[in-house]
Amino acid sequence: MDAEIWSQVDAYIADKLIGADDPAAALAANAAAGLRPMDVSPAQGKFLSLLVRMTGARRVLEVGTLGGYSTIWMARALPKDGELVTLEYEPHHAEVAARNIAAAGLSDRVTIHIGAAAETLPVIVAASPEPFDLVFIDADKPSNTIYLDWAIKLSRPGTVIVLDNVVRDGRVIDEANTDPSVLGTRAAFDMISTHPRLSASALQTVGAKGWDGFAIMIVD
Ligand code: SAH
Ligand code: DHB
Ligand code: MG
Repeated sequence: MDAEIWSQVDAYIADKLIGADDPAAALAANAAAGLRPMDVSPAQGKFLSLLVRMTGARRVLEVGTLGGYSTIWMARALPKDGELVTLEYEPHHAEVAARNIAAAGLSDRVTIHIGAAAETLPVIVAASPEPFDLVFIDADKPSNTIYLDWAIKLSRPGTVIVLDNVVRDGRVIDEANTDPSVLGTRAAFDMISTHPRLSASALQTVGAKGWDGFAIMIVD
C-alpha cells in the first residue's frame, strides 16, 4: 500500500529522535553474516529501550535473539548491574549476536542461551528463580503460547510482556490463513484475552518493516 512513505517517515523519526544511538553496526554485521533482517526497526528498538527505563527494569528476558539488535537496544537501557537473558535456537545467530553484543560493550550484562527456548527456559528457572521485569517475545510464532506461559511463570505482579509480530499485514484475522505462525498468533490472542493474570492491548505499526504490530501486557 504505502510502504514507501511509511519507510520515509521511519527515516524521519530515526533522524529526529534516534540518530547516532542506533546500534546500526550490528545490522551491518548481521547482513555480512547472512542473517535475514527480522530485527525490530530502529524506532521499535528505541521504544523497547524506553520501556526498559519506564518500567525501571533490572532483569530482562528476550526470546529470539537473531543478531542481538533488539538485545543491544534493551541491554543498553539497563542500569549497570542489570541483566538481560536472551534465548536463541540457531548457533550461528547466537555467535553473530555474541560478537555484536561484545562490540557494543554489553557482554557483562547479557547472557545468551543457545537451544530451543522451550528447553532452555526450564533451565533458566532452575538456575535463577528471580522474576524478570520485562519480557520481549520475538521467536518462532507457533510457540507463542508456550513462551507466554513461561513469561508469566517468570514474572512478578507488574512485569511487562511484549509480543512481536501480531499483525503481519493483517494475516492475523484472515480465517482462510492457517499458516502455523498465524495460528500461533491467534492462539496467543486467545490465551491473553482469557488469562486471569494478564491485562493487555495490541498496537498496529507501520514503517520500515511494513505493517505489523505488537501486543503489550502487564502481569497482575
Ligand atoms: N529479537 C530480534 C529478532 C528475532 S528474529 C531483533 O529484533 O533483533 C527471531 C529469532 O528467533 C531468530 O533468530 C530465530 O532463529 C529464533 N528462533 C526460532 N525458533 C526458536 C526457538 N525455538 N527457540 C529460540 N529461538 C528461536
Ligand atoms: C519475521 C520474524 C520476526 O520476528 C519479525 O519481526 C519479522 C519477520 C519472519 O519470520 O519473517
Ligand atoms: Mg519480530
